[in-house]
Formats: sequence, structure tokens, C-alpha cells
Amino acid sequence: MKSAGEKISSITAYDASFARIFDDAGMHAMLVGDSLGMVLQGESDTLPVTIDDIAYHTRCVRNGASKTLLIADMPFMSYATPEQAYDNAAKLMQAGANMVKVEGGEWLFDTIKGLVERSVPVCGHLGLTPQSVNVFGGFKVQGRDNEKALAMVEDAKKLEQAGIQLLVLECIPTELAKAITDAVSIPVIGIGAGNVTDGQILVMHDAMGISFGKIPKFSKNFLIETGNIASAIELYMQQVSDGTFPGPEHSFK
Ligand code: KIV
Repeated sequence: MKSAGEKISSITAYDASFARIFDDAGMHAMLVGDSLGMVLQGESDTLPVTIDDIAYHTRCVRNGASKTLLIADMPFMSYATPEQAYDNAAKLMQAGANMVKVEGGEWLFDTIKGLVERSVPVCGHLGLTPQSVNVFGGFKVQGRDNEKALAMVEDAKKLEQAGIQLLVLECIPTELAKAITDAVSIPVIGIGAGNVTDGQILVMHDAMGISFGKIPKFSKNFLIETGNIASAIELYMQQVSDGTFPGPEHSFK
């Protein structure tokens, strides 16, 4: 799809019923995100989420979605060493995931390479990586200064060399998202990264205006415009496809 210039739509999912609606709509990918700690469990960040939580929800989503590429998040400290990553990725793949997602840059090179060599497809995640919220001092836009922006482009290239097949960019300036998307040959999916990436991902609760707390600036309530879930998902996919979502009002400079 990247080489054909077709935009990729993806969304988080945590249970079989929503997964079926997304699958029926032709969603290209679903993520069992560790965002479940916030939107399902009501925690203030993603750190309390365990590998068993993600495995449980991955199994639920797989039971509702037979067609869509299913990505499962490796939660905080579940991939601190390559060996830990292998054991924990096995649990997610056995629960029905097609790919696992890890947050971080160059330090993950050996872990990613080892996972790929062991037949586990990997998605990277750069920018505002929520598992590092305590290092960032809050959920803040990343890569605004030149040095950090250049380091992020290098990280993306390193992750591609290690073997990732997909990259998520979260909450970074649109210009940086464009530089990273152009610098790698794998598809790049953005959330709060402007409409310049190869596709988008949203947390499903944000896309339907039912988030715990306030809806982030980069998201949009598609349900309010459509009145039913299937039409909201169709509208989201349509606006991703024609590049009208995200607009400048959902993006960062
Ligand atoms: O956990 C999650 O839902 C995510 C997305 C925001 C990309 O990582």
C-alpha cells in the first residue's frame, strides 16, 4: 500500500464484538494496545498493563477478527532483555497476534533482530512512547528540537535495519513525520503525526468520543457525525484514505 500511495487505516481493539465491526469494515490493521490500561482499566498511564492482560485481549480480538492484521503491544518491561522479549512475544503470537509492537529506538536493535530471526514480525514505535512517560515528564509532543528530531530519523533507520515491518509515530511535528516516512521503505502509521505518514491509527475510544478523560487534540469523534459505530468507522477510513483526516487542527508543528 505504501508503494501504491494508498493510505493504511488502523485502530485499537480490545474485544471480539468491536473487532468484528472493524474487520467487517475492512480495517487494514488492529492493535491490541497497552492503551487498554487507560481506556479499559482506568489507570493514569500504560505502565500497570501486564503481558497476560494483552494476551487475554489479543485472544478476544482474534476471535472477532479473522481477516485483519493483528498487532499486539509488548507492555512495559516485558522486553527489557531479548530473552524476556522472546518468551513474552511467544505468548502474544500464541494468543493470535500476527505482529508485536515495541516502544523505543536503537537500544532495541538486538531484541528486534532476534525476534525477527525467530519468526516474530515486529512493529516499532517512536515519538511519544507512553511507556516512557516518566522520562518525558508527561504526555508531551516529542522531536521538536533539531537534535532530537535528527536522532529520531536515525532511530527509524536503525529499526528498519533490525527488521521491523511497520512503524508507529506518535505525537511528533508533521515535518518530522514526513522526514521519517521518506527515510524508510517500510509503512509508517501516525497518531498525532499529521497526514503525511502512510496511514493512521487511533485509539477506538477516542474515535468514538468515549475516552476516559478528554479526547486528545490529535483525535476526532467520528461517532458524533454519523450516529452509529459502523458508519463512524467507515467515515474514519474514508477520511484517512482521502487525506482529510488528520487535518491541521489535529496535528503538531
Ligand atoms: O497502546 C496504544 O494504543 C498505542 C497506540 C496509541 C499507537 O500504542
